[in-house]
Amino acid sequence: MPGTLSDEKTTHFGFLTIPEREKEEWVRRHFDSIAFKYDYMNTLLSLGVHYQWKRIAVRMMGLRPGQRVIDVCGGTGDLSRLAAERVAPSGSVVLYDINWQMMAAGRPKTAATPDGPLVSHVQGDAETIGFPDETFDAAMVGFGIRNLTHFENGFREMHRVLKKGGVFMCLEFSQPVTPWFRALYDFYSFYLMPYIGKALANCGPAYCYLPESIRLFPGADELKAILERIGFRRVTYRRLTDGIAVVHLGKKGE
Ligand SMILES: C[S@@+](CC[C@H](N)C(=O)[O-])C[C@H]1O[C@@H](n2cnc3c(N)ncnc32)[C@H](O)[C@@H]1O
Repeated sequence: MPGTLSDEKTTHFGFLTIPEREKEEWVRRHFDSIAFKYDYMNTLLSLGVHYQWKRIAVRMMGLRPGQRVIDVCGGTGDLSRLAAERVAPSGSVVLYDINWQMMAAGRPKTAATPDGPLVSHVQGDAETIGFPDETFDAAMVGFGIRNLTHFENGFREMHRVLKKGGVFMCLEFSQPVTPWFRALYDFYSFYLMPYIGKALANCGPAYCYLPESIRLFPGADELKAILERIGFRRVTYRRLTDGIAVVHLGKKGE
């Protein structure tokens, strides 16, 4: 009922307007409902392309052996495993996520990789990262920042825990730039994706949330400006697959 929300701050969960204080719980329930199907559904819905995007994004970070990395909203750990390969043998990766189920779902896969022991799992909120200032050489977030109640807080926290000169990377969904491709993608994501989500994972609403939350997230240029305002330097971005996903890179000033 609209009236019941009038006295308190509201936010979005997809296209739904909900009380701000409830968003974390909605997001938790959402990822609980899909945790053990997350990797499989991602691969199916993106036809495997998301692995390619993740590989490109981690390569762009220019990680080196021995570095310490945090993977914010790390989920089932795809980015963490890719980063671990690059910082091995003496570096380390902290996979940081609010949802234990998501981390549990990815743990066996990480444990089975040669550099898996370099990845540790820490449960916590990206809006209040539980590490001291200037802890990490690199901070990355993949397809997670959109879910935060105040996503700018997440970026601010990533900036805080980065060492001076440290590398920032955000891989996030966006919208295709070519009109006909965008129309096709809209049809796919608003109509087919929820249908496939319902049919194969019994999670129709979860796969409505995904395209809706993507439409509400800032575009690539706006996000670049937000990152610069927060304090990141040399912010650049690269569109992937005509802009379905975008990688933003930046540095913490020296
Ligand atoms: C779409 S998944 C992305 C997982 C992984 N980074 C990937 O690229 O496959 C988003 C993740 O963000 C996590 N998340 C959502 N809100 C969070 C918060 N406030 N703090 C930390 N993690 C959060 C969810 O639990 C989920 O694992």
